[in-house]
Amino acid sequence: MKEKILVTGGLGYIGSHTVVELQNSGYEVIIVDNLSNSTLNVLERITNITKQSPQFERLELRNKSHVADFFKRNKGIAGIIHFAASKAVGESVENPLLYYENNINTLIYLLQECNALGIENFIFSSSCTVYGEPDSLPITENAPVKSATSPYGNTKQISEEILKDTCLVSPLKTIALRYFNPIGAHESAEIGELPAGVPQNLVPFITQTAAGVREQLSVFGDDYPTDDGSCIRDYIHVVDLAKAHVVALERLLSKRNEANFEIFNLGTGRGSSVLEVINSFEKTTGQKLNYKIVDRRPGDVTAVYADTQKANASLGWKAEKSMEDALDSAWRWEQKVRGF
Ligand code: NAD
Ligand code: WQD
Repeated sequence: MKEKILVTGGLGYIGSHTVVELQNSGYEVIIVDNLSNSTLNVLERITNITKQSPQFERLELRNKSHVADFFKRNKGIAGIIHFAASKAVGESVENPLLYYENNINTLIYLLQECNALGIENFIFSSSCTVYGEPDSLPITENAPVKSATSPYGNTKQISEEILKDTCLVSPLKTIALRYFNPIGAHESAEIGELPAGVPQNLVPFITQTAAGVREQLSVFGDDYPTDDGSCIRDYIHVVDLAKAHVVALERLLSKRNEANFEIFNLGTGRGSSVLEVINSFEKTTGQKLNYKIVDRRPGDVTAVYADTQKANASLGWKAEKSMEDALDSAWRWEQKVRGF
């Protein structure tokens, strides 16, 4: 058995897939989650896939004394992967303080414990949202950060600053992973994305429309300066994303990091338009999708895709799965959730 790793938000979408990959790579995992955007049965489903049950504790990371108490009771943590956060861009505009509290305070409480206990290895879930509307494509890690379009984006930008500053004055080593657009589900269809309420993201809206839960998909604009007029994003399979966390962790644990604060883009390096995703879904699954073109969604940027050379070269990681793999897995997951 390898080192013990704490995964915050480990019952959520990306966290659960990462726990599977960590366990498959021999790590011992402790998950903490407050179940605000996940359910306890994910634990069983992870166990079904890996045949090992991760340790779990229901913990509210906004409660500083509970966080301190958790670390008193759980010694020997070699590293932390911090997924727990609120992630809905629109909700963050309506309730910024919720986002600043949940995404910033929780990070600070964890880092205070890292300092106190000498936990040196930290992986942080950042987002391509920090790049805003990029000046050039593909986006490298050196592109200017300009996420002030939403409080959610601000929390990721501020969190990176907090981590960078902490790494300057402590033994902490951090890798911030800037995810592009994660999609898809585990091939077993045991775990996947479970949006609360009406999905805000494209792929869950597509699968729910195909499943008959939503009547029609709205395509937000076909008048962007792209080939087909719809927006372009870099959609990455969540299992590829999960695997990147394992290699990032191994980089820190084996002290192969080149600086104490490092940033990597995690994407495929390929941009796909909304209409291309719809086409690909229809072809892959044989499901005809009911969709219409509507006005642009405020705040959307035209095109975003990653330059992945730094992650390829330094982490030795590359996204391997295709858009078809991702959409097929998302559709099989949706069918399972709906009991088809
Ligand atoms: P998710 O909501 O599925 O998972 C987050 C988990 O954290 C949930 O299980 C939730 O219950 C838990 N949580 C939230 N606040 C908590 C708290 N105060 N205490 C304890 N647990 C708490 O989200 P996800 O899609 O898996 O995202 C994981 C991380 O990746 C987040 O930090 C998110 O901002 C970031 N990210 C996500 C995307 C995306 O599109 N999904 C893209 C870029 C970055
Ligand atoms: C993708 C494309 C929409 C829904 C968001 C966050 C970002 C990051 C990833 C966390 C866009 C179009 C969508 C629909 C549509 N998350 N669309 N109809 O906006 O690129 O990024 O998730 O860090 O911060 O902002 O992802 O899935 O919402 O949209 O036409 O019903 O699909 O306009 O072009 P987005 P998305």
